[in-house]
Amino acid sequence: MVGKIRRVYGDKVNPFDKYEVQNISLKGDLSILSAIHQPEEFPHRDEQINIMVASLSGIMRGFSSNNILVYGKTGTGKTSITRYVTGMLKEKIGDRITACYVNCQTYDSPYSILINIAKSFPGSDNIPPSGWTLDRIYDELVNKIKGSKKTLILTLDEIDKLVEKNGGDSLYIILKLMGEDVGIGGTIIGITNDSSFYEKLDPRVKSRMSRESVMFTPYNADQLKDILRPRVEKVLYKENYDEAAIGLCAAIGAREHGDARKAIDLMRISIEMAVRESAIKINVDHVYRARDTMEIDVIRETVKTLPIHSKIVLMAVIVCGERHPNSATTGEVSSLYSDLCREVGIQPLTSRRVSDYISDLEDFGMINTTVKSLGRYGRTRYIRITGRENDLKRFILEDQELEPLKNIKNTKQFRLDENI
Ligand SMILES: Nc1ncnc2c1ncn2[C@@H]1O[C@H](COP(=O)(O)OP(=O)(O)OP(=O)(O)O)[C@@H](O)[C@H]1O
Ligand SMILES: [Mg+2]
Repeated sequence: MVGKIRRVYGDKVNPFDKYEVQNISLKGDLSILSAIHQPEEFPHRDEQINIMVASLSGIMRGFSSNNILVYGKTGTGKTSITRYVTGMLKEKIGDRITACYVNCQTYDSPYSILINIAKSFPGSDNIPPSGWTLDRIYDELVNKIKGSKKTLILTLDEIDKLVEKNGGDSLYIILKLMGEDVGIGGTIIGITNDSSFYEKLDPRVKSRMSRESVMFTPYNADQLKDILRPRVEKVLYKENYDEAAIGLCAAIGAREHGDARKAIDLMRISIEMAVRESAIKINVDHVYRARDTMEIDVIRETVKTLPIHSKIVLMAVIVCGERHPNSATTGEVSSLYSDLCREVGIQPLTSRRVSDYISDLEDFGMINTTVKSLGRYGRTRYIRITGRENDLKRFILEDQELEPLKNIKNTKQFRLDENI
């Protein structure tokens, strides 16, 4: 449906007219290219699906199954494929199993996890969200599981967060619940990005967590194209996209540790952009710009969550960089940081702590440091910003506490110059 619709009101043109021009019409819902879409097929994951299915298949014959640990970097399909596998098992023997999914990033205490498991069983309305002791919920849950005579398949997504926050005991409690206390036996499917998760567990937990490991390897660009293409074909007509746009989304996703989510999100944002601009086709230019938008969003989120001192250190690095384009020393940054702290009415931290914050910022990829030897004068660390200074400044100044730094260039220049 190409064609300009131009409505004239008297002799005026309605400013909304341009948004009525729709050169790309969508064939399917754009949410197919978002996290809420659960695909029916998972290209390049047959091996992982087969291992999980074989491991869980014992339950069909009345045996217990090993616990499963699913490893892999972000966006490699761990959550969606686990959901798919447990969903398929439910379809087969739904009358014999209770499948429960808990994200340990959201529910990060044994208490909240037990409550969530309990909710998967009928008649759990009597359990309050807080107020009972852990033992009481545990006993209630044991009764519920026994009473149901069903095998519990418990998916603990981001399982490392549970142990990180509450220690190994928290997992031990849940493992016990799945074991002999209940009599029927259940299976835990633990999902994690941390490849050393199992090794870090204490021996007591390890021995209960007997497991099958499934590794979700990063996707390469060709594999990501195969994942992306069927979704794009559901959303767009062939004439509305360049094949190269799919290729570029896949290449960028592959570079980011083989991340399917990144490739899919890039494609969706590119389409939104092209539709907004009334373009005829989605091309690589849209993808490049979508990538920039995504990167900026990530940077903004990262800056937002930095502690206030870290934001001030970052601001000091930026301002020092403006003064010394060839990169500033730790001493210069530290001294400017102290000035900025005073400017916003905050007590500056010691140089040692500032040094720690500098290392953290380097881990985030916001700054680069190099250590140079000064011969008999020792060594010094030089610091420079990795780029996007203006965006970073803008995001730092979004913190209301740092508002006094807004005019730093004009009012503080002289004093700062003196201090450096
Ligand atoms: N083989 C695949 N086929 C189709 N879609 C896939 C495939 N792998 C991943 N996806 C899609 O990629 C997105 C990310 O997958 P998912 O959320 O399962 O990743 P994850 O490994 O759990 O990531 P994280 O560690 O960040 O939680 C989802 O939209 C998912 O549907
Ligand atoms: Mg996940």
